[in-house]
Amino acid sequence: VNIDEIPTPALVVDLDLCKSNIAQMAAALPGPSLRPHVKAHKCTALARLQRGAGHPGFTCATIKEAEGLFDAGLGDDLFIANEVVDARRIGDLVQKGAKVMLAVDSEATIEAAASGGVEEVIIDVDVGMPRCGCDEDDAARLADLARSLGLRVEGVMGYEGHAVHIRDLPKRNDEVQKSAYALLRAHDLVGGKIVSGGGTGSYNLNSVVTEVQAGSYVLMDGDYGTMALPFDQALLVHTTVISVHKKGWAVADAGTKAIYGTPHIVEGGDVMFSSDEHLAFVPEHPVRVGDRLHVIPGQLDPTIALHKGMWVARGTKVVERWQVDLSGW
Ligand SMILES: Cc1ncc(COP(=O)(O)O)c(C=O)c1O
Repeated sequence: VNIDEIPTPALVVDLDLCKSNIAQMAAALPGPSLRPHVKAHKCTALARLQRGAGHPGFTCATIKEAEGLFDAGLGDDLFIANEVVDARRIGDLVQKGAKVMLAVDSEATIEAAASGGVEEVIIDVDVGMPRCGCDEDDAARLADLARSLGLRVEGVMGYEGHAVHIRDLPKRNDEVQKSAYALLRAHDLVGGKIVSGGGTGSYNLNSVVTEVQAGSYVLMDGDYGTMALPFDQALLVHTTVISVHKKGWAVADAGTKAIYGTPHIVEGGDVMFSSDEHLAFVPEHPVRVGDRLHVIPGQLDPTIALHKGMWVARGTKVVERWQVDLSGW
């Protein structure tokens, strides 16, 4: 099948660019020094390529992602880098033979881990992003509590999400270092072999972590695309022009139900607005009804989560179809 024959809107992965992103990252962060975050792509086929590049473990955001990786035979070193208040489904996975570490940042989440059948936890520390993570000063107390309940404390995590998207490199580096040292101080108090953190924007800046949790690097998006990172845009949303107006604008068939974040039109053009099923834009060059238009989504993860599958192409030829099989919760 030629890529221009697939129904639109559709996600299309350039397989060669995707593989070169994987290889580039594996060269910078080989083996266990990268724990790819599957929330970026929610796709076991892609996780298998990452495993093939030498990374033994995966980071998950949801229990569903961990379950899907386990069902796909990729569940022998998982980390759910998120808090949960009902850990029984994770306990079931552990019973079946999965290795799953779980992030905790409070007494309640530690108790949920212990009562749900989790065996290994990682203390999640606030390193500057106002999201999950305990106070640095509270990390030791929580680690002791976890141990007293029979949990193995494998280390600490701290995600510097407030820093990874800073465009100015010296500023980004400063913020990453501040977070990294906060995490290191917490690790001194907690112990354990794992210091987990980092993302695509800090993959080569955060030198205190034993593993980087980057995910977006594998396909990239419009936001990361402006940051001079050495990864290529390997995913596009293919759309079709469905209306052309005499007053100068045109409309493609991919609205907010197909693209999350500010769309960037590869062929050029100014986006006017997106509605549910429409992308209204002023084309840079004349377009006709039926023309294909290629769009870089502003944000990768939530865009993929809007789709059931991705077409995988080499040049203009479709070579595979990957299911987005880790969606849901
Ligand atoms: C906990 C956690 N770790 C790591 C990442 C890194 O992802 P990315 O590669 O998109 O920067 C994220 C992204 O939001 C995250 O939430």
